[in-house]
Amino acid sequence: MLKNKRILLGITGGIAAYKAVELTGKFIKCGASVKTIMTKNACEFITPLTVKSITHQAVITKMFDAEADIEHISLADWADIIVLAPATANIIGKVASGIADDLLSTTIMATQAPILFVPSMNVHMFENPILQDNITKLSKLGYLFMEPEQGMLACGYEGKGRFPAVDEIVFYTKSYLHYQKDFTQKKILITAGATRENIDPMRFITNFSSGKMGLALARAAHIRGADVTLISANLNVEIPYYLNNKKTSTAEEMFKLTVNSFTEKGSIFMVAAVSDFTPSEISKQKIKKSKNLNLEFNRTKDILAELGKLKSEDQILVGFAAESQNIEENARKKLEAKNLDFIVANNLDKAVKDETEVIVIGKERENKIAGDKFSVAHQILDLVFRQKK
Ligand SMILES: Cc1cc2nc3c(=O)[nH]c(=O)nc-3n(C[C@H](O)[C@H](O)[C@H](O)COP(=O)(O)O)c2cc1C
Repeated sequence: MLKNKRILLGITGGIAAYKAVELTGKFIKCGASVKTIMTKNACEFITPLTVKSITHQAVITKMFDAEADIEHISLADWADIIVLAPATANIIGKVASGIADDLLSTTIMATQAPILFVPSMNVHMFENPILQDNITKLSKLGYLFMEPEQGMLACGYEGKGRFPAVDEIVFYTKSYLHYQKDFTQKKILITAGATRENIDPMRFITNFSSGKMGLALARAAHIRGADVTLISANLNVEIPYYLNNKKTSTAEEMFKLTVNSFTEKGSIFMVAAVSDFTPSEISKQKIKKSKNLNLEFNRTKDILAELGKLKSEDQILVGFAAESQNIEENARKKLEAKNLDFIVANNLDKAVKDETEVIVIGKERENKIAGDKFSVAHQILDLVFRQKK
């Protein structure tokens, strides 16, 4: 999604400026071309040489250079997107007030490319109503913002203001290069992960689902402005700090939470791999070693079938089916039997990988999509919300 894209990175004078170096490396690794503007104050924190050594492209710090092009216009036109990381309270204030008094603020004034701010600062600076008003004003004008992370800050305070993980900035950049913030009116419920059914205090049965596809959908929908609730089960991948996540473990817990949260949501993507069976009894003590062990299992409640019954006309219900054989045929049966609007079918061997191939089957049409799970997630969202039913 970043291949051959032109990213103009603006680095401003925040303590997180050194993290922009890692970000630059990630952009380059994804195939992007990166030019950088550093403010005068950013150069107090890191040197332009460090950034240039990674990007192998110009790192520009001055507006007035008789030898160079009119940089603020050529850079403004060159960029497919401008990413300001870290973005100081100062640059946010300047842009909100229409100030163009250095190369970065003047380029921002001159560009027609999307602009993504990654604010990072002390918690009191971030909570300052002047800054918050500036963010609100700029957001209304179509400028894009990432929420800072909550946690321990360099200044010694604890609170909101941390520079996000660079991978998350890459996900935001990929999204806004291709998509708008077009889901702000949508309320979406997404389940992800693999349930665990306990056998005794030490043991459980589960499955290989990594939760990556559900997480990719939740991430993509949130970045495009949707109000997303994630119901996760035993994910062993990091859950983005900006997602509203509710944790569950067993199929029964997931059933209760999903059915209870269902009515307030417009669309539901059931990506989690929920166990079809659960041991009829959970041993209170650890089961001792013996020659053979026979366990008896009961059926768990079928969440998708239940949601299919409860679903109203204006809700969209999307199921996922990982199959090892007759993928399309089995998925179609599930679509009909459970009253789904769409089913996303994929081969079981892709469950734990970063790349996938899926068939999105609706009542009338089907589409094949392949690629990394994040770009596939964006395309699934487009298909579901474009075709509706
Ligand atoms: C050690 C130090 C750390 C700073 N860290 C931040 C920061 O993380 N975020 C921020 O908004 N400002 C921070 N500032 C203040 C900015 O550097 C200051 O507002 C400056 O005018 C920003 O200039 P620029 O936006 O043109 O780069 C820091 C200042 C110092 C001295």
